Amino acid sequence: MKHFLQETDFAARELDEVFALARQFKQQRGRRTPAVLAGQTWALIFAKSSTRTRVSFEVGIHELGGNPLFLNRNDIQLGRGETIEDTARVLSRYVHGLVVRTFDHSDVERLAAAGSIPVINALTDFLHPCQIYTDAFTMAERWAGKRGNLVKSLRGRKIAFLGDAAGNMANSWILGANLFGMQITVSGPERFAPGAKVDALLAKEGFSGGYQFTPDPMEAVRDADIVYTDVWVSMGKEEEAKKRNRAMAPYAVTAKLFAAAKPDAYFMHCLPAHPGEEVTQEVLDDPRSIIFDQAENRLHMQKAIMAMLAKAARKK
Ligand code: CP
Ligand code: NVA
Repeated sequence: MKHFLQETDFAARELDEVFALARQFKQQRGRRTPAVLAGQTWALIFAKSSTRTRVSFEVGIHELGGNPLFLNRNDIQLGRGETIEDTARVLSRYVHGLVVRTFDHSDVERLAAAGSIPVINALTDFLHPCQIYTDAFTMAERWAGKRGNLVKSLRGRKIAFLGDAAGNMANSWILGANLFGMQITVSGPERFAPGAKVDALLAKEGFSGGYQFTPDPMEAVRDADIVYTDVWVSMGKEEEAKKRNRAMAPYAVTAKLFAAAKPDAYFMHCLPAHPGEEVTQEVLDDPRSIIFDQAENRLHMQKAIMAMLAKAARKK
């Protein structure tokens, strides 16, 4: 069974197809969209809050002819101790796919291993691959133009990621940059530098590109095509808020820091943003800020991912 738990779950040769499908779905929106999920129900199990991910998946499943079923983790027996494995086995008897937002990354791996339907990682504490594919598509739309090769347009570009360099977005972008042939520099306080888990994942996937880490934000953004940040206090880290806000303050994306990147660099943020913390309102409003295109593209990219997984599942 094919799943999408991490960026490398599509082979390099499949990336062109995924990105081309997202472009096609975007162009077709409001007209005909192929009903590739007709007659199917896809369940969303969420253990954390969400605006973009939940809504874009629910709308996307509907637009592909399927039925979305939202399940708050605490409303089902999983929240009262039913095992992940039994939950996966039972839901596999009713629905055709699972979209899961949770804390432990191993939860999505266990659901995928025990069930017999495709599982999509809609964010874990470790990775957020749907966001990274969407972000890469959003950049590529600009660099490849209307007809150019989207995936190829990413190669050699530089992304600077600032702030929480050990969080799910930093980890996921480190993996994504290696997959797409981009250079990545992450910058944050030394004690929030990328951890051994992401290094082990890069080694396991056979990537030699790696990443740069610097505690100097100005050095990080030099020659960057993309300046990227995320909240300093991720869901589940609320108890560390004070410590994080203090340590990460020097990494706020201000107009001055953004100006030190390439003149045609874009500003990106997965959202939700906290203006005045990790980024100023001025940068969020800058004409080179493409945050709402990112948010919109979640819908088109996730439709592409579901279409690919549904196609693979039909072949089984
Ligand atoms: N970027 C993102 O995943 O947003 P939500 O938490 O609103 O889904
Ligand atoms: N790092 C953030 C991303 C939200 C989309 C979090 O996990 O809360």
